[in-house]
Amino acid sequence: MTQELGATRRMVLAGGLALAACSREAEAVPSAAAVQGGLKDHAPFPVGAAIRSDLLAEPAYPALVRTHFDQITADWEMKMEAVLEEDGAFDFSRADLVADFARSHGLRLFGHTLIWNEQRPAFFEALKDNRSAFARAYGRYIAEVVSRYRGARGWDVVNEPFNWNGSERRGGIWAETLGEAYIPLAFERARAADPEAVLFLNDYNLEQFPAKRRAFLNLAEGLLKAGVPLGGLGTQTHLNHDTDPGSLGPAMRELGSLGLPVHLSELDFTLKGAGRDRMAALALQARLAGATAEAFASLPEAQRFAFTTWGVRDKDSWLRQPEQEAEFPNDQPLLLDDAGRPKSAFAAVVEAWG
Ligand code: XIL
Repeated sequence: MTQELGATRRMVLAGGLALAACSREAEAVPSAAAVQGGLKDHAPFPVGAAIRSDLLAEPAYPALVRTHFDQITADWEMKMEAVLEEDGAFDFSRADLVADFARSHGLRLFGHTLIWNEQRPAFFEALKDNRSAFARAYGRYIAEVVSRYRGARGWDVVNEPFNWNGSERRGGIWAETLGEAYIPLAFERARAADPEAVLFLNDYNLEQFPAKRRAFLNLAEGLLKAGVPLGGLGTQTHLNHDTDPGSLGPAMRELGSLGLPVHLSELDFTLKGAGRDRMAALALQARLAGATAEAFASLPEAQRFAFTTWGVRDKDSWLRQPEQEAEFPNDQPLLLDDAGRPKSAFAAVVEAWG
């Protein structure tokens, strides 16, 4: 009897997760109503979020970040478009806002991202015809940024080296000018600027497209064999409403197969395409969030670099920016709702981490 009572008390106190059927599928999803503490309090590994410097002035936002996360990534402030002026000068004013917030509150800082095919700054376009000058400027950019934020726990050195399904490489102006060497060169310059930071190769759709995951891992293996200081693999994990929760475990295991730290780097769960029944969509989102959390937590401890959501509250998400809002209004892709309250997806993550 005592043992049963103890178990009952543990269950009630553990996180106060009441189960509530809340959708036509009668899928019981954890209720967020009584989840205790911040997300990071439930995780034996760092829990991160992409933050926006423009929101740091809001009264509630900084407190929300500090409650739930112990690592932060700049949503855009550390990208080349925000740092590099047309004449090659550096403007660190926005990036410093994020780095200073991390330092003031004892949060880990994760640098995103040094080299991304999406960025074609005028300064580098102007150097395209002079490979050696381009390569010098390329190395200098990486050295300047990484050394300024020395102490960052890691960097997405190269972001999205493949197209959406992994059928093609995407190197942008970097590959056009430097060829395949753009990747090793970036990692070597970053390593020279900060011997401690974990250096990541980061990409998306690695869960939904096994062929892309294999291509990504083949590239990573080739870099390791060539002695490139690749220290970790970032999987953005922007999941779709119909991503199969059962696919996350195999995906994470395969991503962990090289033995490198894995950063679940940009997690969100769009409801786009999930139909008009938001309650049902949010119930499925909770299941997917729980499966993702469980898959990540199943990695060996040394490989669980961080579990990072791409934004703090639903309304902060990049999926609520005008372009995406026009396609699908009022998306709810994150773990905290517009008011910063834990959602069922939050409770499912906490439950998965037990
Ligand atoms: C997005 C930011 O969230 C937006 O604010 C910005 O306008 C565009 O970039 N994958 C990435 C991130 O690696 O850098 C992107 O971030 C989202 C997709």
